[in-house]
Amino acid sequence: MALLPILCYPDPKLHTVAKPIAAVDTGIQTLVANMLETMYEAKGIGLAATQVGVHVRLIVMDISESRDAPLVLINPKLNWVSPETHLNEEGCLSVPGVYDGVTRHDAVKVEALDGQGRMQWVEADGLLAMCIQHEMDHLQGKVFVEYLSPLKRNRIKTKMLKAQREARD
Ligand code: NI
Repeated sequence: MALLPILCYPDPKLHTVAKPIAAVDTGIQTLVANMLETMYEAKGIGLAATQVGVHVRLIVMDISESRDAPLVLINPKLNWVSPETHLNEEGCLSVPGVYDGVTRHDAVKVEALDGQGRMQWVEADGLLAMCIQHEMDHLQGKVFVEYLSPLKRNRIKTKMLKAQREARD
């Protein structure tokens, strides 16, 4: 297994739309294992393939306290969203140190392949529902800061670019 570098906002590659995965082969399974290792190492609860520069429809998540309940969604499709929505604070491994409010559906139903290529149906609410919506946005090339006002987004962009410059120097 290997840790993968996580793209940081405003890297333009984060706005790439991911393609469906044709077959869950050993290459995809290796990517899943590496993404899980990367997510756990970064202490995140979700990671989309887009964030490691691989533009395929694959998400890994783990919202458990014990960090031992990985959920893998391949080619996820939203089948239902609750009419009820909620404003919650979100963060993202691609926008380190930034947390802000995003309105999401309270509950979702999603179908996807699992890490072995089997079809699974997931009903989620609370944190998991939020996480699924956040990660599925990544697959569409959308980062959560795009829900914020242009003023806030520009401030975040400036802050990120400054931090990235300082990290290089
Ligand atoms: Ni994210």
